[in-house]
This record gives sequence, C-alpha cells and structure tokens, in this order.
Amino acid sequence: MIIEKIDLLRKFLKEKRQSGLSIGLVPTMGYLHEGHLSLIRRAKKENGVVVVSVFVNPSQFAPNEDFDAYPRDIDRDYKLASEAGADIVFHPDTEEMYPPYSNTFVEVGGEMTKVLCGASRPTHFRGVTTVVNMLFNITNPDNAYFGQKDAQQAAIIEKMVRDLHLGIKITVCPIVREASGLAMSSRNKYLSEEEKTQALVLNRSLDMAKRAIVNGQRNSAEIVRMITDRINKESLASIDYVSVCSYPDLIAAEQIETRTLIALAVRFGKTRLIDNIIIE
Ligand code: PAF
Repeated sequence: MIIEKIDLLRKFLKEKRQSGLSIGLVPTMGYLHEGHLSLIRRAKKENGVVVVSVFVNPSQFAPNEDFDAYPRDIDRDYKLASEAGADIVFHPDTEEMYPPYSNTFVEVGGEMTKVLCGASRPTHFRGVTTVVNMLFNITNPDNAYFGQKDAQQAAIIEKMVRDLHLGIKITVCPIVREASGLAMSSRNKYLSEEEKTQALVLNRSLDMAKRAIVNGQRNSAEIVRMITDRINKESLASIDYVSVCSYPDLIAAEQIETRTLIALAVRFGKTRLIDNIIIE
C-alpha cells in the first residue's frame, strides 16, 4: 500500500503497534536499487511492519545540486519495495513534509557534520537530520535502517538518536556493489559508459588501501596519497576529498590505530560519487 498523508500513516501504524507489532523504517529518496532492497529485507526479518519512505528531500540539496534531476519512479519503487517485504511505502509530497512557513531544523553540532561531505555540502546534513527526525516522529519506529555507503550520514544519525534520546535502534547495513565493484547508488544512472568504467577506480583504490593497511601501513597521509595518485590516473575523475578518520566520530588521525573510515567523494563529469571502507 502507498500512503501519502502523515495522519493516515500514523493511524495505520497506531493500530499495528496496538496489536503488538514492532515497526521498522527504511528511509530512502527512492529510485531503489539492491542496496535499498537489502535494507528492506533486513527490516522485514526483524520487524512486524516495514515502512519504506520514498521522499526526495529538498532541504538536503543545495540550490546548485541535482534536486530537480534526481531520478524518480514511484511505481517502480513501490513494486520493488513490496517484493522485498515493505508493508507500506510512505510517499508524501513536499508540502506534506514542509508545510508553508515551516522553518525548524534539527542539526547535529560539532565537527562531524563539517568534515568529509559536509565540507563541500555545508547544509546537507542539517537537511538529512531534519527529515530523518520528521520520519522518526511520524512513524515512531523501533528500528531504522541505513546503508554504510553513506557512512558519515549513518554516524551523524546515530549521534542524533543518542543526543536526543530517541530510543530507536539504528542498523547500518553493508555496502552493496555491482558485480564490477561499483557501489550501488541511484546516481549511477547519470554516468556515461566511460564514466562508469573509470569509476571502478573508487572501489579498487579503497581495496588497495586496505591491502596496504593489512600489510602494516599505518600512516594516514600515505594512505590518502596512494588513493589520490591512483584516482588521478583516470582522466574523467575529479577528487572532492579522500579522507582517513576514526569511525564513528570522524576525527582525523595521523596514525591508523582505532576503527577507521577511509572515505572518498569523486566527480565523474557532473556526477559526484561517494564510497568508503571501514577497517576494524
Ligand atoms: O540516504 C538517503 O537516501 C537520504 O539521505 C535519507 C536518509 C533518506 C534522508 O533523505
């Protein structure tokens, strides 16, 4: 079933909760791929009712970004989500989520929203935490599911949940890759064949870094240099950042000692791709 209105969704979920079912939420911006479907399947295993939200959230896009061009296909999303185990697809329009004059934001403070993607997208995470908070308030889930591909987003949401005592269990699921190794993303649709081929360098350079660490390399700057050199060999790649930091607090360290995130964002033409690995 697709529900577009907040009060209808609340009414539906209230009845489910009263009959003792737990609620799992999978927030998405739609144009679902295997990465999203893996979250929905996991949610189905762990909850009585699964809600998948499909909402391209304007407040997480800057004016120069791809909000208008972002791929949308609710019929396809509904079919895929239902097959993967969703009971409800929540598909509100912008006015439903942001009524005229709504002007309240939820923002995680400190450095973690300013580094990595936050450096070039300064208002992005404020938009994410605001809409995720709205979705939490609307659905009141027991569990919510996010992908590790957006590792910084997941860490920020976990921090918001802790700071605001939301009492929701956050599960972060592994990155799902195409057979080629390219991390699945709704934005892969924008890539030309040549860009797609060159974008394989992202996963390959992360793998190379992992091997170097396994073989004893502990110097973060050296890891960043190796990845950067490898990516710069691709003619269409333009690096936004390559970063090595602790996870989940996202603090840069000279030496790799604790659980570490190696994350990168690279443009191929107009498409900005992100990828990462977490070294335990
Ligand atoms: O990861 C996404 O698709 C979005 O940032 C999210 C969490 C659905 C919020 O709009």
